[in-house]
Amino acid sequence: MHAGHFARRISHDGRSGSSLPGVAEILMGVTGGIAAYKSLDVLRILQRHGHGVSVVMTHTAERFVGSASFAALSGREVGTHLFGDSEQPGYHHLDVNDGKDLMLVAPASANTISQMASGSATSLLTSCYLAFRGPVVVAPAMNTSMWLHPATARNINMLRADGVHLVDPESGLLADGAVGPGRLAEPTAIVDAVEAVLAGGSAGRDLAGTTVLISAGGTREPIDAVRYVGNRSSGRMGWALAAAARDRGADVVVVQANVDLPREAGIRYVDAPTAAAMRDACRAEFPGCDMLIMCAAVADYRPIDAASGKLDKSRADALTVQMERTTDILAELSALREDQVLVGFAAEHGPEGLERARGKRQRKSVDIVVHNDAAVEGAAFEGADNIITIIGPGESEQALPRMSKRQCAERILDAATPLVEALPSGA
Ligand SMILES: Cc1cc2nc3c(=O)[nH]c(=O)nc-3n(C[C@H](O)[C@H](O)[C@H](O)COP(=O)(O)O)c2cc1C
Repeated sequence: MHAGHFARRISHDGRSGSSLPGVAEILMGVTGGIAAYKSLDVLRILQRHGHGVSVVMTHTAERFVGSASFAALSGREVGTHLFGDSEQPGYHHLDVNDGKDLMLVAPASANTISQMASGSATSLLTSCYLAFRGPVVVAPAMNTSMWLHPATARNINMLRADGVHLVDPESGLLADGAVGPGRLAEPTAIVDAVEAVLAGGSAGRDLAGTTVLISAGGTREPIDAVRYVGNRSSGRMGWALAAAARDRGADVVVVQANVDLPREAGIRYVDAPTAAAMRDACRAEFPGCDMLIMCAAVADYRPIDAASGKLDKSRADALTVQMERTTDILAELSALREDQVLVGFAAEHGPEGLERARGKRQRKSVDIVVHNDAAVEGAAFEGADNIITIIGPGESEQALPRMSKRQCAERILDAATPLVEALPSGA
């Protein structure tokens, strides 16, 4: 078997995928990690969406999942060797790349990421990468220590700088029993990212040259030295927006309140744990941004005169905490805006919420308000998904089905980016 056989497309439904709109030919690289078996799922979902998938594997990947599984599912030969011998065929990387619209590496081991970052091309997979001229999506997976190692962070930053689209790993229980970041993103999220890149084509970096300011998380307003009034916001929506804006080429600043999620490369973070701190930080960053997305859940009220020590519970049976209104940051910045696009969030509760969100958009003079109903399971706080309605720009309104927060982020940016392009400054 020679390279020509590999390059020939034998898609599962017998047609060449890339000739159909929205359907692509994908080269999927699989590397040696415990999550290699999940790439079988990625492959199946890509196929279900109509894409043609050809697989190349590193030698180590073959120790985790046999190439026969990928060959059977893809209906194509699987590339493993650069040089053939009497036992194994060799594949010419240029032939392998031929006709492919996008390269995906999932899972991407720390080792392969390092090779890709340095331009080393000792395997078929890394040779393909170095010779590949289309967009590349990389989904890393490794244990937390490897992921957090400065060398890996450095390599990831280099890949980003080279224009590679990263699908960041999730936090959770890993194969070694530890809990932390490093787990391969869900196969559906990887496919979402691939399709978002395909949809963007060469304009995938449509926010290049712009600065996007995003507030994320939930503020905590002190009652005393140890207690606070807070909310359930996890920061996931803001994190997804930040990653999406960064991947579309923006300089991203996140003003974050109490978010316990791993910080990502290529994003600048400013800590602002209270409503007052968030107001100060947003005001300081606002003049330099082209787009503001206020996604944080900022307290509407804060206790007046928080006690400097810890309140003594033996003093009384009941405690009354007097609260005062905080500043409405979005309304304040809207009044200050010169040449910027403003996106607000409205986490409303119940059936009248959508109407309140529409009113909020009018009242605060913002371009887009993203409504989510905190009363609906699977929407708004904490989870990986959201159910949103994008109100604006203009008279438009998009009620979207439940989808991952990353997908929501892409749809929000799809709506807001044309407004940035239309700014007088032409940002
Ligand atoms: C059981 C086992 C599990 C491993 N899991 C991972 C992993 O999830 N991520 C990773 O980066 N490396 C992992 N490694 C280490 C890689 O297999 C090793 O770095 C290898 O050189 C990667 O080769 P490749 O990048 O050419 O596929 C694992 C090793 C073993 C023995």
